[in-house]
Amino acid sequence: MLFSESNAKIVPFYTKNDKINKLLNFSFKKERDNFLIVNFVNQIMDSKKIYILGIESSCDDTSAAVICDGKVLSNIVANQEIHAKYGGVVPELASRAHQQNIVPVVQQAIEQAGITKEDLNAICFTKGPGLMGSLLVGTSFAKSLALGLQIPLIDVNHMQGHILAHFIIEENTPIPPFPFVCLTISGGHTQIVKVSNHFELEILGETIDDAVGEAFDKSAKILGLPYPGGPLVDKYAQLGNPKAYSFTKPKVGDLDFSFSGLKTGILYFMQKQVKENPNFIEENLNDICASIQHTIIEILMDKLKNSVKQTGIKHIAIAGGVSANSEIRKRLQLAQDHWGWTTYIPKFQYTTDNAAMIAITGYLKYLNNDYADISVKAEARLKVTE
Ligand code: KG4
Ligand code: ZN
Repeated sequence: MLFSESNAKIVPFYTKNDKINKLLNFSFKKERDNFLIVNFVNQIMDSKKIYILGIESSCDDTSAAVICDGKVLSNIVANQEIHAKYGGVVPELASRAHQQNIVPVVQQAIEQAGITKEDLNAICFTKGPGLMGSLLVGTSFAKSLALGLQIPLIDVNHMQGHILAHFIIEENTPIPPFPFVCLTISGGHTQIVKVSNHFELEILGETIDDAVGEAFDKSAKILGLPYPGGPLVDKYAQLGNPKAYSFTKPKVGDLDFSFSGLKTGILYFMQKQVKENPNFIEENLNDICASIQHTIIEILMDKLKNSVKQTGIKHIAIAGGVSANSEIRKRLQLAQDHWGWTTYIPKFQYTTDNAAMIAITGYLKYLNNDYADISVKAEARLKVTE
């Protein structure tokens, strides 16, 4: 015991833990300087804070984030602008840029969090899916840092990261209750996943060819817009008429997606129009973007409606880069009012690739003592359920 019975008294000061406050109140009946013990307990409580560093390097963004007990202290993202002039991500250039960025990005994340690397409890990194060269940079760096600091190493599935970004603790951001359905819409993936628990995931449907982000980017390329075209299509669409042109929606399974036919349809339509009027795209860019975006978002909403019909689950979350899109955000807001869904839309900075989503997933694994072995390998192909 820290203090003898003789100098104990009823405690007028309180620690940060209710259970300990009760114990102090009931255990110490005599006079003593309780201030010291309260301070001591508070220090222990503070030192119990769990700091996690997350590292994301699966594609063309180098990112590092520090979270503490589920709250984001820093989330640094270095975009690689070099790919824009090639109209898409060049894997070799991406891994080289990761090598240049990773040390300063991690350093900045730790500094901005107001901690030192010795405060970290674990290092998490994206194991896959993604570009092998890019993944290798993050994986090797995370391994070395975890070894050097003698702390646990935690491997994170990038697709799980997109979904579990919903568990970042933020003011005014409700966390979805289990079970919920998550529509993951990114540059590489399009999936509808039933989330029964943090790591109990079931794919209900997915794309059989292109991802929805690719549909945006490839359409943008046809229109002569630079990579990544999704945000630009969104920007011009806001000034255009979504019903100006109509494109055929694909016919696939109730919860599956297909976007390659739509892309070809858009290409043939533009080629035909440009033959008749070489300035067709320039003159109608806003309407074209609005019509393309409307078709894509209609497809996504149809699939979500099907998923509610099939599962009866009305808690709907979205994740991934395309969830930054203004129309899907509006349509989900409307679905709350019209169909009684409760929708969960992540903050913009947690939609496109970022390390905070990797850190929160790692934190949830840390709480389960789910650590990686130092021999863990990056995996370019990895299902959300693996
Ligand atoms: O999740 P993410 O950052 O990277 C992958 O894991 O793929 O997603 C990037 C994709 C790109 O295709 C980009 O064009 C698209 O998200 N995107 C958007 C918007 N912002 C990003 N698509 C449509 N509207 C947006 N506002
Ligand atoms: Zn992603």
